[in-house]
Amino acid sequence: MKPAMPQVGLMETSRSDGLVLVAEARARYTSLDWINRILGSPACPTLPPHIGTRVVRVDEQEGNASDLIVRCTFESGHTLIGKHFLPVIKAKPEMAFRGLEERGQGIDVRMNLFRQSLPDRTTARVPEAYAYDAVNRVVWMEDAGEELTPLQPVHWATCLPALGTALAAVHRREVPAAVHVSVDQPPLRSSLIEYPFRALDRYLTTGSRRARWRRFLAADASAGHALIHGDLSHKNILVAPDGPIWLLDFDRSNLANPAYDVGFFAAHLAIQAWDTGLEDVRTPISLFLASYLADARTDEGFDFCAVHYFLLTLAYRIDSLAFLCAHDPGLRDRIELHLSRWLDAPPGDLEALFRTGSPAPEETRSSH
Ligand SMILES: Nc1ncnc2c1ncn2[C@@H]1O[C@H](COP(=O)(O)OP(=O)(O)O)[C@@H](O)[C@H]1O
Ligand SMILES: [Mg+2]
Repeated sequence: MKPAMPQVGLMETSRSDGLVLVAEARARYTSLDWINRILGSPACPTLPPHIGTRVVRVDEQEGNASDLIVRCTFESGHTLIGKHFLPVIKAKPEMAFRGLEERGQGIDVRMNLFRQSLPDRTTARVPEAYAYDAVNRVVWMEDAGEELTPLQPVHWATCLPALGTALAAVHRREVPAAVHVSVDQPPLRSSLIEYPFRALDRYLTTGSRRARWRRFLAADASAGHALIHGDLSHKNILVAPDGPIWLLDFDRSNLANPAYDVGFFAAHLAIQAWDTGLEDVRTPISLFLASYLADARTDEGFDFCAVHYFLLTLAYRIDSLAFLCAHDPGLRDRIELHLSRWLDAPPGDLEALFRTGSPAPEETRSSH
């Protein structure tokens, strides 16, 4: 007797309990028998013919926030990654599952648009998304390989300029209607910043700080939208030895203000810099920004928004430093110190950095 499981193709569920959905997908996607039944079912995604439809081996991968990532080896010898798309369940249960039904929709479309927008002249790559199993919320994608390491400071000099060029090209790209349809659902912009804003709340202690953030919200609301990655950090940028720079983890890819990606990534670079004892965080940020700004088409107010997304991300990440890196036990306090100074007024050179990409002399250093 087969274990009692709902039938493939009839598994539409109205349950909003994300944990149950994850458990069900895990039960199916870690069983060879189930994977092959799913791939053989007409309700399930069609993979390119050269890959075939028969999996002979499945290995579960360690995710950061995801509960299910598998590497499947097909009879043809190809390997594909299957990732269950239900973001941040382990890391941030407080984000709940609002918008769950919609968020999975079109992840393959967004990944592939991102991928197609990357310019040939960079080594940045995005795995090709072959299919999305909407029943189990699993995206089937190209395997970037096993020998990957997260972006480290030793990679900055070669990778950050390439990443800047790549991201500018994606942000510049006209977004086709298919992508609009895939995210035309409840307020995605606010769901991107809502949780970080809760993290910022405790720092908004004065009227002038609150006024500044109200100005940011107004500027953000009137900014143009682009396809963004939504979770661009060193954890999701994997480097292969002498090979491409892989951008992974499109769970939060979205249509939003492109300053989000820039501020978010810059904040992660700053945290990585401080974590490795480098005080002047402008060094890695300018490596990335100089090439980004050389190619980006930025709106009026872009630098103001990017600086504020940078600060917002620092506030948000203070609570999850261990997850990111934190070799340094004093890191949290140091970030908090910078943040509280910058919340009153970001130093001019920080603002200039997001406007021009070049580090200006001294000012940030003297604020340490
Ligand atoms: N397409 C892929 N190719 C190779 N490895 C992958 C791929 N997708 C995910 N992985 C592996 O799984 C890990 C977590 O993937 P990620 O998409 O970042 O999930 P999470 O949402 O858990 O952070 C990656 O660091 C990588 O090791
Ligand atoms: Mg990740």
